[in-house]
Amino acid sequence: MTVYFIGAGPGAPDLITLRGHRLIERCPVCLYAGSLVPAEIVAVAPQGALVRDTAPMTLDEIIADITAAHQRGEDVARVHSGDPSIYGAVAEQMRRLDALDIPYEVVPGVPAFAAAAAVLNAELTLPDVAQTIILTRTSGKATPMPPGESLEELGASKATLCIHLSIRNLAYVEEALTPHYGADCPVAIVYRASWPDQTVLHTTLGDMRVKVREEKITRTALVMVGRVFGETAFRESRLYDADFAHVLRNKGKKKSRAEG
Ligand SMILES: C[S@@+](CC[C@H](N)C(=O)[O-])C[C@H]1O[C@@H](n2cnc3c(N)ncnc32)[C@H](O)[C@@H]1O
Repeated sequence: MTVYFIGAGPGAPDLITLRGHRLIERCPVCLYAGSLVPAEIVAVAPQGALVRDTAPMTLDEIIADITAAHQRGEDVARVHSGDPSIYGAVAEQMRRLDALDIPYEVVPGVPAFAAAAAVLNAELTLPDVAQTIILTRTSGKATPMPPGESLEELGASKATLCIHLSIRNLAYVEEALTPHYGADCPVAIVYRASWPDQTVLHTTLGDMRVKVREEKITRTALVMVGRVFGETAFRESRLYDADFAHVLRNKGKKKSRAEG
């Protein structure tokens, strides 16, 4: 018996991995985070499977369901949105399973930030513009930010920021980031990437609040901040530069490492 923590991807039912899909098809128990995992993804569970939305459940109740499945010798598909490694509250479940000696495995999924970049046709790392992506959030009711992780501090990097769980906190985002990025810095807001009602806003740090208010976006959006958005004058990478030799294209020229 194994518990499979499965990343469901950002929403579209065909953005789950084949491995995750096949596990849901065969596990007799499926516990899914219904606030962000669409019903179609778990609709492939086998006939007669126990399929339960964990959104209204407590951690104790979830672990009780898993323990009962373990006693019956039944595998469990534990389905989380995006990739389980980001803001999924999976670590606390794994810790309980470790204590109970219940085996588990993780099946990765497409995270929302990658789905949002795809919707935007954007590369989040551009030569000389940004080579670092920060996946972060702002403090919420239940989750304060640890010391050293405020947007004021992270913004000093000028990296591309993918800000989760913060669409209701834009006044703070603007105030914290404007000194580092400038009020004209491009911002892309992606609401429910890959869902049928997906919405994309191209705006700036200075204008984003007005735009978001107009569109009435209040949840499930990524706030993507950085000079990579809308940038067209970036230099080409050296990876495909004809004058640049590397280990996979070494025509008698001095070898360099393949990574750009
Ligand atoms: C609890 S976190 C889950 C993140 C998820 N584990 C992942 O890998 O992306 C929920 C937040 O992720 C972002 N998010 C999740 N799905 C999204 C989507 N389809 N489109 C845009 N943002 C999304 C939003 O910021 C939302 O508030």
